[in-house]
Amino acid sequence: MLNLDTVERDYVRWYPTALGAFAEGEVERAPSTRPFSTGLYVHIPYCDKKCSFCNYNVQIKNRNDDSTRDLVRTYIRAIKDHALRCKELRWHENVRVDSLYLGGGTPSFLKAEELFDLLTFFRAEFDFDDNAEVSVEGNPISLDSEKIDALAKAGTSRLSIGVQSFEPRLLEILGRGVTQEENIEAIRMARASHIPILNIDLIYRNPSQSTEELLESIRIARELGVNQVSLYPLWVRPKTEFHNAFVKQKLSLPTEQDEFEQLVAARAEFKRLGYEQYNVFDFVDDRANICVNTFLQWQDGEWIGIGPGATSYFRGSFFIHTYDTADYIRKIQRGEDSVNAGLTLSRQERMERTMVFGLRMFPFLKERFFGQYGERVESVFGDKLRWLEDQELLQQDAREIRLTARGIFHINGISKLFYSPNRKGSLQTLGRKKDGTLILERDF
Ligand SMILES: C[S@@+](CC[C@H](N)C(=O)[O-])C[C@H]1O[C@@H](n2cnc3c(N)ncnc32)[C@H](O)[C@@H]1O
Ligand code: SF4
Repeated sequence: MLNLDTVERDYVRWYPTALGAFAEGEVERAPSTRPFSTGLYVHIPYCDKKCSFCNYNVQIKNRNDDSTRDLVRTYIRAIKDHALRCKELRWHENVRVDSLYLGGGTPSFLKAEELFDLLTFFRAEFDFDDNAEVSVEGNPISLDSEKIDALAKAGTSRLSIGVQSFEPRLLEILGRGVTQEENIEAIRMARASHIPILNIDLIYRNPSQSTEELLESIRIARELGVNQVSLYPLWVRPKTEFHNAFVKQKLSLPTEQDEFEQLVAARAEFKRLGYEQYNVFDFVDDRANICVNTFLQWQDGEWIGIGPGATSYFRGSFFIHTYDTADYIRKIQRGEDSVNAGLTLSRQERMERTMVFGLRMFPFLKERFFGQYGERVESVFGDKLRWLEDQELLQQDAREIRLTARGIFHINGISKLFYSPNRKGSLQTLGRKKDGTLILERDF
């Protein structure tokens, strides 16, 4: 069923894979009789510095250059025009926004007034739920108290800071360009602000990282009053400094056994410090503080993606925008369709998707599956679930399913187990190149 001798490293970003040609006009226009919730994801593709591990869709720029300021202004105009175009297509009708996520790249690359203006714009143009989550990513390299205040004034409810580690040696290896003190200072500023929820990202499985160093970072997070921690295993992705070193056998990563031990030790430390794990990557100090956007992405919620390479899952279709930022801006300026790949999911594909992502959430509620499809999850995927249980990758009872630590470790392999046979082995499509050919995960 699934090879457990080694960890599947190809991260499952979305399902279905192998997207085809798709235009925004294909999004279902069937009128909805009742308001339904959606998320908005807005991509900011700029960073100050390229980290050694990252292959996200970013451009490295000098924030203070006049040409960069012009470019950013043009980009902000483009994403606003893109949002207005979604409105022209009447996607906003009967839709209430329950989550706005400004991600990247690095949203804190923008100036304080640009951040304020952007968040205010989205609130003015779309119908927001009173309790909508407004989440913004920031990097200590560009966060300052003026920006944090502007975010708070614009109603940001969750700030997520990329910390990765508090260990100075590791920050150097990861190419972050910030010191331990700068990480701590950014967190202190965020805690002193009116933004209620603070998340930080940490990475384990780093080159030469010890378990003790990882646990120390978790303890520092607790001491600083961080509400949520996203803990990711290092993914060595093509087109990164780490990947180049890996290919030359010059990247010394922990063994799989050490990596598993780090995961188990981290889970125990979080528990000891009062954090609960509510999905494969996220820990929270209080269930009331969990991130809405995670549910949206992994529990069949829908969202509209704005920006180059942004994905959307809206009205049963999954689609992706032009990857190249300059190309994206050009298309928006010309009023052209910036969607370049996608598909509308069949009922079977929706069920598979519910498993691919739903098992990441703790717990996976069987009742929810039944409510969505009118069938018991055991009748559709019973064999697979039993096999995973026999392998001690998950535990289940009549009500719910929960991955074990071993299940978390093998999450990508488990997800792929639920792919339909015709999608197995097919790579995730990131869109189309200018010459029309598909951009595949392995190209990055
Ligand atoms: C868009 S960044 C967060 C905001 C900001 N750009 C920063 O880095 O501070 C998203 C997060 O994804 C995680 N990430 C990105 N590439 C990763 C990789 N190759 N392996 C593990 N985590 C990764 C990092 O924890 C990072 O903070
Ligand atoms: S980790 Fe964040 S700051 Fe570093 S390159 Fe990726 S998006 Fe930019």
